[in-house]
Amino acid sequence: MTKRFSVLVAGAALVGLAATALAGPERISFPADYKSTFTQYHAGERLNGEQYAIAFANDIALQGARDGGAMPVGAQIVMEIYKPALDANGEPMRDDNDSLMQGDLAAIGVMEVGAGWGEAYPEDIRSGDWDFGLFDAGGGIKKDDSTACLECHAPYGDSAYMHTYEQLVAKAGE
Ligand code: HEC
Repeated sequence: MTKRFSVLVAGAALVGLAATALAGPERISFPADYKSTFTQYHAGERLNGEQYAIAFANDIALQGARDGGAMPVGAQIVMEIYKPALDANGEPMRDDNDSLMQGDLAAIGVMEVGAGWGEAYPEDIRSGDWDFGLFDAGGGIKKDDSTACLECHAPYGDSAYMHTYEQLVAKAGE
């Protein structure tokens, strides 16, 4: 290996390392004031049938939903994830619509769009330029690796890689 080539290889390895290290929850700015500055656009039992969720969007995401297409840089969605409320027997309680009811907060999922962020991920799980993080109520990172988040959101390219996009578009149009 020539010296020049080995320097190039080392450089490429460093760039790769930097991209990997930066991807995931560390590069998301947890929006501590989302309850006062974001707009709630969805609440209800989760599709997994085991949890309850409340979702909030910042103004950039609302504008992105109005404009259609890829979500703009700076868009953020917060999803509060709750355990179901339990009755005296420890069984999940259901409302008149047979939906789970809101219990204790379990975690806060955040997704954010950053310029070129998708490049850090392989194409099969890349979800546009969204990155993902799971936090506790104080904004502490609960899970270092966001790969599983991307795997489940990547198939939804037709709806900006979101599952509740329809609800967001509806709210944005109000
Ligand atoms: C098993 C599939 C799956 C995985 C894994 C997953 N999600 Fe989701 N996510 C969903 C579904 C389904 C919804 C719609 C809400 C619901 O569950 O009803 C959703 C909704 C969201 C939303 C609200 C915006 C939207 O897309 O509707 C955020 C924010 C979110 N997820 C963040 C995360 C984060 C952060 C992770 C990883 C820690 C993650 N998700 C992992 C399936 C998944």
